[in-house]
Amino acid sequence: MKIGILGSGLMGGKLGTLWARCGHDVTFAYARSATKLERLARDANAASGSVAEAVRGADAILLAVHWSRIGDVLEQAGDLAGQVVLNCCVPLDESNTDLVVGTTTSGAEELARLRPDARWVSCFNTSPSESFAGVFARKDRAPRPHLLVYGDDAGAREVAHDLIRDIGFEPLEAGGLRAARFVEPFAMVTAELAYGQPGGPALTYRFEKLRN
Ligand SMILES: NC(=O)c1ccc[n+]([C@@H]2O[C@H](COP(=O)([O-])OP(=O)(O)OC[C@H]3O[C@@H](n4cnc5c(N)ncnc54)[C@H](OP(=O)(O)O)[C@@H]3O)[C@@H](O)[C@H]2O)c1
Repeated sequence: MKIGILGSGLMGGKLGTLWARCGHDVTFAYARSATKLERLARDANAASGSVAEAVRGADAILLAVHWSRIGDVLEQAGDLAGQVVLNCCVPLDESNTDLVVGTTTSGAEELARLRPDARWVSCFNTSPSESFAGVFARKDRAPRPHLLVYGDDAGAREVAHDLIRDIGFEPLEAGGLRAARFVEPFAMVTAELAYGQPGGPALTYRFEKLRN
């Protein structure tokens, strides 16, 4: 799969590197330094380029920037018409303490409003980047940790499922894009569990339904 990474920081850098290790054709884009993008690409056996280059012909795009950068990155990305976009962004203020949208809308719904012809799917926003290497290393162990995935486009969700499984998670369907109103605040809970509570940041989770 050809994957464009928009935002090559903690999330984009790590997910893109692991997808490249799975054999995907990854292009890293959007960082403050071209040298950083080039180094990331070289280390991952991937490519780096502009946002427009990363988006062109991509089967999947990962949007992984701070909420304050959304306008800038979308402007460079164009209309994204017909393209599958995995969104892991949490709509946070500059100090990363408060959500700037909710509860009658959400970051995911605002993105869909800004680029209505893109095929949006939300995932990876409830897992700290520090968990990815360990999840990837334990891919063969069952049961896998869950990862919430939600959106209105079934085909886009299927693409996301494959990419989520590549990292080593089991995708857990959590509803349509509107679910973002509730999942984005939950992402703040996972961040507190990862960074605010003891035991280290490599948090994973798994939901179970008791059958009897
Ligand atoms: N980190 C997590 O564990 C986690 C978990 C769940 C959700 N999220 C969400 O995922 C999104 C990405 O988070 P992250 O932790 O990956 O962020 P990050 O490490 O700060 O990465 C953001 C990327 O955007 C780039 N960038 C920032 N300002 C820029 C500018 N002015 N011009 C060009 N590039 C610029 C950064 O460049 P540089 O590389 O040069 O800094 C970096 O590559 C956020 O919305 C966050 O809320 C993160």
